[in-house]
Amino acid sequence: MFERELLMIPGPTNVDPRVLRAMCKPPLSHTSLEFASIFKEALDNLKKVFMTRDEVFVVAGSGTLALEMAIANIVEPGDKVLNTVSGYFGQYFVEISKVYGAKPRVLEVPWGKPVKPELVKEALKEDDYKAVTVTHVETSTGLVNPIKEIGEVVRKNSNAFYIVDTVCSLGGMEVRVDDWHIDICVSGSQKCLGVPPGLALVAANSRALEHVEKRKASVGSWYGSFKNWLPVMRDPTKYFATPAVNMIYALNEALKLVLEEGLENRFRRHFILAEAFRTAMEALNLKLVAERESAANTVSAIYYPEGVDDNQFRNKMKEHGIVVAGTLGPLKGKGFRVGHMGNVNQNDIFATIAAIESTLKRLGCKVEIGKGVAAAQEKLLSLTK
Ligand SMILES: Cc1ncc(COP(=O)(O)O)c(C=O)c1O
Repeated sequence: MFERELLMIPGPTNVDPRVLRAMCKPPLSHTSLEFASIFKEALDNLKKVFMTRDEVFVVAGSGTLALEMAIANIVEPGDKVLNTVSGYFGQYFVEISKVYGAKPRVLEVPWGKPVKPELVKEALKEDDYKAVTVTHVETSTGLVNPIKEIGEVVRKNSNAFYIVDTVCSLGGMEVRVDDWHIDICVSGSQKCLGVPPGLALVAANSRALEHVEKRKASVGSWYGSFKNWLPVMRDPTKYFATPAVNMIYALNEALKLVLEEGLENRFRRHFILAEAFRTAMEALNLKLVAERESAANTVSAIYYPEGVDDNQFRNKMKEHGIVVAGTLGPLKGKGFRVGHMGNVNQNDIFATIAAIESTLKRLGCKVEIGKGVAAAQEKLLSLTK
């Protein structure tokens, strides 16, 4: 039963057997030429996925470490940082900024609404900020922020470093690090890339790396210091700290899968499946947390109808072999989240919608069985003609 469970949470996501097999190989020496060539291939392919010609870092840890590396390397004590917050994960940058001695100016918008570029423009007039942080897909609400447009505002109106969290978008929605003026872009392995949890991924441009050389205070993190990792990323036979060898096998195989599919095809698949899922939720009269125009293609957060108990709902879904997540922070207990990213396919989407229908019906809601699945099928047909 366990091996047939369908993970429809917003990460970790279902891992392809090709990736699982790659992980099972015996670990090589981490400084051997053989391992270095695998690591190098993964780094080169990761650059293609980040759409950058600059540096990338792959370090053992989760997405949170990637966020922390960005702040630790850029921010010096006393620096002012503009942290935009549109949900639970935006707040992570605020907390990390404080830990590294920065003074956060928090630009908060209601959950489910995007950070508008004009708001960032206004806030940039108030002060001289060292960095601006934005969450691309806010996983707590299923909302996508306009990273490209905010990037233009930041570049035109300040010298701030633009730091973007793409933990819930890289490999599933368009992320163009160089074109969108992102100085540091951070992500993790366990979501749209379809790798198990365990790797922090960072893209940093030359402007960010030059700043690290010039900054007055030393970087407040030893393990997370770009300076310590850069020689390894440029030549993986070098040693700083032991890389997660088997996780890098997994990343390398998963990136090959991503590039075999092609980034544009992959973004299109995520869009089509997300649209099908959203259409089904609307047909079932279920309300999305994120406003429709800013709904992410990788995850959806959905409010429960009146009277549905969160634990009961998710336990019953599990009886169908489908795992979905609860909502976070102030939304806890009020809704559920479905990850539709990574290796997700249309069967997964239909199975999830059908399970939602029968679970709600079992819990006493008025549901017309099949209505959501039918709406999703129609949508899918119309988008794949
Ligand atoms: C947008 C976003 N940022 C940061 C994180 C934290 O990543 P991790 O749980 O891998 O540390 C998550 C995790 O879900 C996330 O969705």
